[in-house]
Amino acid sequence: MKSVTPAVAMGAALSALCLALWSAAALASPLDYTLPPETAAFLPGPNREVVEGNCAACHSADYISTQPRGERFGRAFWQAEVTKMIKVYGAPIDEADAAKIVAYLAATY
Ligand code: HEC
Repeated sequence: MKSVTPAVAMGAALSALCLALWSAAALASPLDYTLPPETAAFLPGPNREVVEGNCAACHSADYISTQPRGERFGRAFWQAEVTKMIKVYGAPIDEADAAKIVAYLAATY
């Protein structure tokens, strides 16, 4: 009888392993879990819904509420933040919404 070459033996072992992994994946049932309630919220104010719709996709409202406050962090600061989200991080926000968002942020935070 012809002896089995190491390469053929290796191939057979790999196939068996793949089959085992595939069966395990097929048997796994979907996970079902409930997320904890969102703890960070945008402060009330005009255009809040525009901000919720555009600024909560990638991170929570914490990123906004933890920014520094005061004179130096007014409209220009928020304009720069919104521009950065669009230009650097690729947030798909149109100009009309961006203007409403800056107005909301400058007035509210
Ligand atoms: C496309 C995803 C995306 C969207 C949409 C987005 N951001 Fe961000 N944001 C980021 C990323 C990425 C960071 C940096 C995270 C880090 O450094 O850990 C960030 C960070 C921030 C920070 C922290 C300070 C800083 O500059 O890093 C603020 C404030 C912020 N975002 C505000 C906003 C506002 C306001 C909007 C809505 C106009 C918005 N983000 C929408 C991705 C996004």
